[in-house]
Amino acid sequence: MKGLLKFITCGSVDDGKSTLIGHMLYDAKLLFADQEQALQLDSRVGSTGGDIDYSLLLDGLMAEREQGITIDVAYRYFSTEKRSFIVADTPGHEEYTRNMAVGASYADLAVILVDASQGVLVQTRRHTRICAMMGIRHFVFAVNKMDLVDYDAKQFEQISRDIKRLVSEFDVGTIKIIPISATQGDNITQKSVRMSWYEGTTLLDHLENVDVEEEAGDFGFALPVQRVSRPDHTFRGFQGQIESGEVKVGDEVTILPSKETATVDRIISAGKEADSAGVGEAVSVCLDKEIDVSRGCVITKDSELRCEKMFTASILWMDQGQLHAGENYILRLGTQKLPATILRIKHRIDVNTGDEIPADAVRKNELAVCDISVADKLVFNKFEKIHALGSFILINRVTNMTSACGTILHSLRRGDNIFPHKMEINRELRENQKGQKAYTIWLTGLSGAGKSTIANELEKRFFAEGKHTMTLDGDNVRGGLCVNLGFKEADRIENIRRVAEVSKLMNEAGIIVIASFVSPYERDRQSARDIVGTDRFIEVYVSTSLEECEKRDVKGLYKKARAGEIPNFTGVTSVYEEPENPDIVIDTAQKEVNETVDDLFAELKDRM
Ligand code: ADX
Repeated sequence: MKGLLKFITCGSVDDGKSTLIGHMLYDAKLLFADQEQALQLDSRVGSTGGDIDYSLLLDGLMAEREQGITIDVAYRYFSTEKRSFIVADTPGHEEYTRNMAVGASYADLAVILVDASQGVLVQTRRHTRICAMMGIRHFVFAVNKMDLVDYDAKQFEQISRDIKRLVSEFDVGTIKIIPISATQGDNITQKSVRMSWYEGTTLLDHLENVDVEEEAGDFGFALPVQRVSRPDHTFRGFQGQIESGEVKVGDEVTILPSKETATVDRIISAGKEADSAGVGEAVSVCLDKEIDVSRGCVITKDSELRCEKMFTASILWMDQGQLHAGENYILRLGTQKLPATILRIKHRIDVNTGDEIPADAVRKNELAVCDISVADKLVFNKFEKIHALGSFILINRVTNMTSACGTILHSLRRGDNIFPHKMEINRELRENQKGQKAYTIWLTGLSGAGKSTIANELEKRFFAEGKHTMTLDGDNVRGGLCVNLGFKEADRIENIRRVAEVSKLMNEAGIIVIASFVSPYERDRQSARDIVGTDRFIEVYVSTSLEECEKRDVKGLYKKARAGEIPNFTGVTSVYEEPENPDIVIDTAQKEVNETVDDLFAELKDRM
């Protein structure tokens, strides 16, 4: 008997995926009797007018039944005499690309449905591309609804040619194209008598026999540490699943990213002591000496794993909002979790043609290639080597939702050749010399809220006490450092990123920075906090209301914006996201400026 086959079914809405799988289960007598009865009952009220509606078998969710579409990944388990299967039935319409990517990441093979009456569609290309990106190398194209084209061999050949052309772009293992009818049962489990021109196997036959065991490449031993187990002081085991290679007691291993070495003392696999363990096994490994190993570290031997801060990756963007360069996310790769910045969107990929399209933003369901940097050393390799250490997700820091999934194409050599020199005169010495601790005081609020006025008064207070300060605001940076930036979302993100980096450098120099920027997006302020360092970043929300700012309109900008003369004006035609957790809130409408700044100064001194 062949091993387990994990496969995914993908198709456009109405391509008949659920019907196909349902039919396969039914024919193969994989249903329980009561399920069969229920099916016949249901079908009377279903959409096929008394015939059995096989899709009801799969469309377990109520909402699907009501809408007639599949809305989440449904996993089914079944066995025949020859093999066991897990099938992920994934939604076809574009909205749910996210689920498809998730399903694909678990599968070895994809069954992609193609409607014989429509041929290869954009969706077919999208699904194939996403499956290939998620590492699937075995494909079955089920050309369905052959009954609707009178079982025409020519039509099938034409579609087969299109499919072969599409697949030729990818690095695939096996590919099989089968003409079927899911409703009529042609070539599902039994050879169709209506397509005698087709000499190949049935779908089930192919699934039972296809060999998806790849020759495992020799990428060395890799064990991403999931957990450190320490039941008592005599035992310290590093637990995780072996993602590549093999390990033996006595092997000398290297811990990444620290690059420390140690010898394997004990291996515990499935609750028992073992001499060795290999890929796929969940193990505990004990080392011969106490070294610092925690979740996210990778224990390796003879691997070419890299430990770097920058790489280039393909991503599938799944978030409602757009992706821009400069944005900051949490990256999860295996057991590692790090803040990450999108340095550059290199290009988008046309799902249809595979063409590279220049882009400064990526929208939902689009594929793109980006350069990404992470806050600390990340242990990874190219996706095609060890999948688990070459694929990642990006998580939105504010909503905690998965915004993208991605696969690493290559590391960025730039990272390789940069070695920050440890300077002997460091921040602490510079701070001591100046008799102060360096902070970044970040003022955010609408245009006209009074940020610059407050910054100016605040700096005078610090100066009077002999402190070393620097004020950064839109007016002084937008004339130089950020002269190439405007007020579109992407430009503001980059503006804030540069200012945060400059603030960090100035803090390194021991200087107190007062940064006064509209900085309308919560995630950018969070990202500025990350860059500067949470413990030296004080976010002050200058909360003057829009009505008040507009009433003051010192620069006459609101009037112009209302007249349509300034595009993307914050508060008028562009959003201002109120800070969720500011350290300090001030309202300039309540008190005189001097009084407000006195209060602020006192509060800051308490914190600094
Ligand atoms: S930010 O959004 O990128 O943080 P920044 O603080 O640098 O903006 O610049 C804001 C200043 O630029 C405002 O005080 C205002 O005088 C001016 N400005 C010009 N156009 C705009 C606009 N479309 N939106 C907001 N401010 C603008």
